Amino acid sequence: MLKKRILSGMRPTGKLHIGHYVGALENWVNLQDQYNNFHLIADYHALTTNPDTTNIYEDSIDMLIDWLAAGLDPKKSPMFRQSQIKQHTELNLIFGMLITVNRLERNPTLKDQVRDLHIDNIIFGHLGYPVLQAADILLYKGDAVPVGEDQVPHIEISREIARRFNNQYGNVFPEPEPMLTKFARLPGLDGNAKMSKSLGNTILLSDDPETVKAKMKKAVTDPKKIRKGDPGNPEICLVFSYHKKFNAGEVSEIDAGCRTGALGCLDCKMKCASKISDLIEPIRDKRKYYEKNLDEVKDILADGEKRGREEAVQTMSEVHDKMKLG
Ligand code: TRP
Repeated sequence: MLKKRILSGMRPTGKLHIGHYVGALENWVNLQDQYNNFHLIADYHALTTNPDTTNIYEDSIDMLIDWLAAGLDPKKSPMFRQSQIKQHTELNLIFGMLITVNRLERNPTLKDQVRDLHIDNIIFGHLGYPVLQAADILLYKGDAVPVGEDQVPHIEISREIARRFNNQYGNVFPEPEPMLTKFARLPGLDGNAKMSKSLGNTILLSDDPETVKAKMKKAVTDPKKIRKGDPGNPEICLVFSYHKKFNAGEVSEIDAGCRTGALGCLDCKMKCASKISDLIEPIRDKRKYYEKNLDEVKDILADGEKRGREEAVQTMSEVHDKMKLG
C-alpha cells in the first residue's frame, strides 16, 4: 500500500523550545516510518508578522539543526525552505481565486494574532496566510498535517480550497486532515497558556542543565503554597503540568506530596528540571555535532529542496493541465 503523506512546517524562529518539541516535532519524528513526511521552513510566512529578514537564513538553519537533532531523518523526510520552491507562490496565487476575503477575515487564528501582537492594520499577505499554507500542504498532496491546535482553522481552509479546486477543475488534491498531539500546547514558565519566544517564557532544546534549573526556579506555581509544608493544588500548578508530560512515572507521588505539603516547590521544580534535561540531553549533543558540521546541514537542505521541487513541479503540471493553462 502507498504510504500516506504528511506535510508540516514551522516559521523559522531560530532555536526551538520544548513546546515546539512536545506540540509538533516529537510527533513528526514518530510518524516518519509510517508516513512519507515533508517538512517545510515557512520563511515567507515569517514575513506576515515581521518584515525584517536580516537573520532569516541563520534562523532557518538554527531551526533545521534542531529538527535534525530531534531525530528527523533527512533520508526519509525532505526538509526545505518555502522561498526556494517557486511553485508555492504560483499555487498561492491560483488558490487566492478560490476563497473570499470574508472567509479569511473570519479566521480565528488571525483574530488571535491581531489581538496578541496589537496589530492595527492587517497586511494583505497576513490575511492571505492560510492561502499560502494551503499551497504548502497541497503542493505535496499532504493527506495529514500534524500541528498544534491553533493551526486547525488553517487546515480547515486548506480543505475548503482543495474541495473548491477539485470541483471547479477536476480532482488533483486530497482534503488534508489535522493530526493533533495530546500536548498540543505547552504553557510557558510564566503560566501563560503558550510557550513562546516573544513572551520570553521558554526552555530551549539547546539549554544546558544549569540553565534549565535556573529557568525552572522562576516558574510559577500555586500562589497559595508559599513554603514546604503548605498544602498545594497541583491542578492549577504549571510545574505539575510539566511533570505530566516529562515525568509521567512519578505523577501520582508528586500529586500526593504537593497536596500534603511534604514536597516543597523547589524540590518539585528540580525533579522536573532533571527530567527535562534527560529528555533534551541527546538532542543537545546531536545539535553540537551539526553545529560543527554546517556543510552537512547545508547539503541536507539542498537535497531536501531538490526533492521537494520535483514533487512541486509534478503537482503544478497536473494543475496546469486541469486548468487548461499551457
Ligand atoms: N502556520 C504554521 C505555524 O505558524 C506554519 C506553517 C506554514 C505550516 N505552512 C504550513 C504548518 C503547512 C503546517 C503545514 O506554526
